[in-house]
This record gives sequence, C-alpha cells and structure tokens, in this order.
Amino acid sequence: MKHTDIKEVFSKSDFIGQTVTVCGWVRTARNSKNVAFIELNDGTSLKHLQIVVDKASDIDFEPALHLGTSLKVTGEVVEARQGSVEINAASIDVLGTCPPEYPLQKKRHTLEFLRTMPHLRGRTNTFNAVQRVRSIMAAALHEYFQSKNFVYINTPLITGSDCEGAGEMFQVTTIGYSKEYDNEEEYYSSDFFGRKAGLSVSGQLEGEVAAMAMGKIYTFGPSFRAENSNTPKHLAEFWHVEPEIAFAELPDIIEEAESMIKFVIRRVLDTCPDEMKFFDAHFEKGLIERLEDLISHDFATVTYTEAIKLLQESGEKFVYPVEWGCDLQTEHERYIAEKVFKKAVFVTDYPKEIKSFYMKQNADGKTVAAVDLLVPGVGEIIGGSEREADYEKLTAAMTERGMNLELYSDYLDLRRYGSVPHGGFGLGFERLIMYVTGVSNIRDVILYPRTVGNVR
Ligand code: 4AD
Repeated sequence: MKHTDIKEVFSKSDFIGQTVTVCGWVRTARNSKNVAFIELNDGTSLKHLQIVVDKASDIDFEPALHLGTSLKVTGEVVEARQGSVEINAASIDVLGTCPPEYPLQKKRHTLEFLRTMPHLRGRTNTFNAVQRVRSIMAAALHEYFQSKNFVYINTPLITGSDCEGAGEMFQVTTIGYSKEYDNEEEYYSSDFFGRKAGLSVSGQLEGEVAAMAMGKIYTFGPSFRAENSNTPKHLAEFWHVEPEIAFAELPDIIEEAESMIKFVIRRVLDTCPDEMKFFDAHFEKGLIERLEDLISHDFATVTYTEAIKLLQESGEKFVYPVEWGCDLQTEHERYIAEKVFKKAVFVTDYPKEIKSFYMKQNADGKTVAAVDLLVPGVGEIIGGSEREADYEKLTAAMTERGMNLELYSDYLDLRRYGSVPHGGFGLGFERLIMYVTGVSNIRDVILYPRTVGNVR
C-alpha cells in the first residue's frame, strides 16, 4: 500500500504543499461545526498527525471518527500552529472499523490495566515510545560492537549445562516423568536429547568458546531463568547481551562495559528526543539531565568488601542483614548507587561462595574477579567477570561445587589448548531500557513479558 510514514511527513518541510497518502489508527477525533479533526498515528512517531476534514466536502467522514479505526488518508500537507503540519483531507478510506467497546479509550490507562492487553497496548504513547527506544538501543548495541571488531555470534538456546550453576533452568522435554522409569537417569536418557536438557540461562560458555577463536565476540538473544522472583525487575525470558573478550583482564572488561553503556545512551538521547521528553514528563522528572550527567562522568568503582563496610556504616535499616559474604539485595544495590555514589557504580571482587564457578580466583583465596554494574533506580544491570583461565584452579573450583567435569569437557579444553586471560559480562537488555526510560516495571519494556504464573 503506497503511503508515507507520519514521521517523514513531520520531519521534512518539503512536504508542505504536496499531496501525500498516510495510514494509521485514529487516536482522537473531534467533530466541530464546519470541520472534523482526526488525530492519526501509524506507530512511526510519538506525535499524531492532524487530519482536517471540511464537512462541506463529499468525504464520508462519520465512520472515520471512531477511536481505533484504521484509515488511509490522502490530502495536502499544510502548515499548522507551532511550526507543525497537518493534512487537509481530499479522501479518506476506512481500512478497518472499530466498535465503541475498543478498550483503549481517550483517558490515560494505568500500566497494570494495559498489561492485561499486550496485543493492544503497543498503540498507546507509552508502549509505542518504549518499543521505538528499545529498537534504537538494539541497533546502537550492534553498531557499538561491530565498530570495535566484535563478531556477533548466536549461541544455542537449548543446552545441557546450567551456565550459572544456580539450578534456574527450565527443562526441555518431550516426555513427562512417570513411574515407568526406575530413576531420573533412565528417564532423561529416554528423553529427546538422551540426557537432561534445558533452556539456556546464558550464552557465556559458548561465547567463551567463540572468543577463544575470534578474539572478541558478543551475543544478543534471549536467556531464560526459572527463578521464582516476582519482582519489577525479573523476567523468566529476557534479552541478554553478552560480550566476551580474549586477552583481557577485569579492568578491560569494566572499561568496555562503561563505554558500551555511554554509547547506547548517547544514541538514544540524540535519536529519540521526542520519546525521551515524553518519559521525562510522564515517568521520571529530570530523566534527560540524569542521563546526560551519567554519560559525562566516570562511573564509580568500589570493591564488594568496601561496599559492605559502607552499608554497615550507613545507619540504614535494611530488610536483609548485611555482613561480609552475603549476596547484595536490590535494597543494598540501590542504596550504594542512589545514596552513596549517586551514579552508576561497578562493584568488584565478590566472595567466591556467592559467585559462579568460572570466575577468576583472586590471590586472597576468598574473592573472585567479578563485577556487577549497579545503577540508581534499578540496581544491577550488568554482571560479569574475568574468567578462570587456569585448568587446575578451574577444575578444583568445579569439583568443590560437586559439578560433573565430564559435562564441561569442551569448556575445560579451552584451558588446555592455548588458554588466555579473558572475560566478559552480561547486560540485561530490559533492565537497561528501564534505566533509560524511567519505566519502573520490567513487564512494561518488553512486548510479551513472561513471569511466574504469566505466559500469554
Ligand atoms: O549476572 P548474570 O546472571 O550473569 C550471567 O548470566 C553471566 N553469564 C554473564 C556473563 O558474564 N556473560 O546475568 C547478567 C545480567 C544481570 O546483570 C541482569 O541485568 C540480567 O542479566 N538478568 C535478568 N534480567 C531480567 N530478568 C532476569 N530474571 C534476569 N536475570 C539476569
């Protein structure tokens, strides 16, 4: 269907005086004495395009005034107030009618209400803006890595190993367990893959394989977590960006993470000014200033041990007690980012007991070369580390955790054949979108959120 995007009509002044055809859905309509006004949106722009209908013309405008109706409109582009443009309609075709029970009425609906209709909420300003920002951020991430010689790889979604070792894998099976099997082993060996399989929680282990051949790689795909966390920042299926870098130590990983975040935020601020003003006005006052400030300063860095001290000396009453060795909870992460540093902060060198087996063991024997990036408002958005590149140390850590080394023989081979210092991190894409837009629930930054008890 030949037509012009509404975004284009707004952005090019040479359309003025031209006849164009636009398509879209009716967002609002007003029927005055001599003219009717229709606000049309096709999803390419946050701003609606006003269609002016002269009621004396022979256009059958009545059916075009209903909210949600889809239209094709041809007419002349003319200047409107405040330097904007509108269209004087010469013809209107109703592509699809929309009955009065259309759930998206003119009033502002709550995000909770809109979550009940994932198939329609994309037509609201909020979700439209979120998805456009999301798309720009995805493109910016690719551009960032591609421009720095990273190779984009696709790691498997079905896997035999639980990368994070936290037992949060969804099982992939074609048969249910039954009394027919004497034990679990027999059951798994009868299943599709002949062994226990699940949906990958991270592409890191395969990412390391690729980095040991291509030097610098990144993945960008879904990861799955069967954690029973019904919180505003957990999804069972989230999009995961995982760069992995050979010939790199922890400070190199931290530098890469900071420069990636700054690149993506700069791109959104430059490319989506209307959307960002919208989020600033409706979701977080001062959002644009906060982001500008973030990217013009160095991120802070603090060790886990120092962070624990800061929390203990804070005088704050936390729900979860703070002592060396504890996992940092969201309340702790947010306190460090929001109250202590008031900006993005890397926390490094966590106790080995609370981190994964693959992390490089520090000389103190107690901590590993891990790093999390915490940001105000959200908490952790990145988790990463330098990897243990020493075969003996790695196998010792795995044995200590009771892991079956045979299942990881490919991974261990990387430490036998030309092992190098290397590391990487995982960015939770939706968490970064939350941070950039000020939208506080992760369910509102993905088209179809999958969470405990919810798959639509
Ligand atoms: O800290 P995580 O578990 O680290 C890993 O998976 C490593 N293998 C990454 C690596 O080094 N390549 O997860 C990384 C990030 C978290 O910081 C968080 O932003 C996001 O993934 N994440 C989630 N996002 C939404 N919902 C969940 N349930 C998430 N779990 C992790």
